[in-house]
Amino acid sequence: MKKITIIQPDDWHVHFRDEEMLKLVVPETDKIFGKCIVMPNLVPPITNNSMAIEYQKRIKKYVKKSLKTYLTIYLTENTDEDNLLTAFKEKNVFAVKLYPLGATTNSNFGIKNLESIMSVLSTMETNDIPLLIHGEDTDPKIDIFDREKYFIDRTLSKIVDRFPSLRITLEHITTFDAIDYIKLNKNIVGSITPHHLASNRNDMLVGGIKPHLYCLPILKRKTHQEELIKVAVSGNEKFFLGTDSAPHEIALKENHCGCAGVFNTPYTIQILAQIFENNNALNNFEKFVSIHGSKHYKLPINKNKINLIKKDIPIKFVNKLKINDTEIKIYKPSFDVFWDII
Ligand code: DOR
Ligand code: ZN
Repeated sequence: MKKITIIQPDDWHVHFRDEEMLKLVVPETDKIFGKCIVMPNLVPPITNNSMAIEYQKRIKKYVKKSLKTYLTIYLTENTDEDNLLTAFKEKNVFAVKLYPLGATTNSNFGIKNLESIMSVLSTMETNDIPLLIHGEDTDPKIDIFDREKYFIDRTLSKIVDRFPSLRITLEHITTFDAIDYIKLNKNIVGSITPHHLASNRNDMLVGGIKPHLYCLPILKRKTHQEELIKVAVSGNEKFFLGTDSAPHEIALKENHCGCAGVFNTPYTIQILAQIFENNNALNNFEKFVSIHGSKHYKLPINKNKINLIKKDIPIKFVNKLKINDTEIKIYKPSFDVFWDII
């Protein structure tokens, strides 16, 4: 039986939500990961220092192992720069999240007018505060499959030109346009989700629509998926794991207007081990899941290790997480996974 030992991985993009959901999902991340960056798109969003402090306390109640949770502030057109700086200097907030208005779940306080955030971005550049971006152009004239490319051309390139030293993560990238752009520009890195590596739009749409694969940015065609896999397994240090694990109740996904998000935390590492092995790149697995992100964010690499073994038969996926009346579907790819964490 094959066995590998790697540095404990990190999740550089996760949604914990609040209340009951928090109770259900924080322990799942805590079981596996050493560090994580937590998204701020709650209702209402985390927009200032005191909200971040309170949210961190609610999260911490469910951390039983050693998970370190780094919080983000939701950038609005009215973000208070002094408050942000205080939050950052007091280490209550680690980074700032930019959602274009209407791009995804709870993005209705997002950014429409880029000029309105130039001053905050300049402060962030000066103080080395990382900017995390949901990179999709929400102009209704643009086809949903082209939103990432247009965002790069029309918005990201302007931010990068104006603030060349700002450390930017283009999150959950889905296209070769994003890969190319990141490779060519200093100070920009990309996070990649397990579901964008393991699935493509055919998985979501052929043979009946699969609402549990609906996420934003939407799954793209296979050629993009192949490029994502290629760069993830390549060992390029500009690319690393951000699961974008985004729980929604099953009833809200299996719906006439289902919401976007894939909950993938429990099997992310096992799925990725399989993808890296399938591409003869297990030697780069640890870099992608445990090293590159810490380097970009200037954080210490985890001291703990985890062990994975390759089974003779495929692992069995648990279908759902459940607490009281809340049920969440767990992501499962269409291929067999033989790797398990022990
Ligand atoms: O699919 C997604 N779900 N993409 C996002 O950007 C947000 C997330 C959520 O919060 O549900
Ligand atoms: Zn997200």
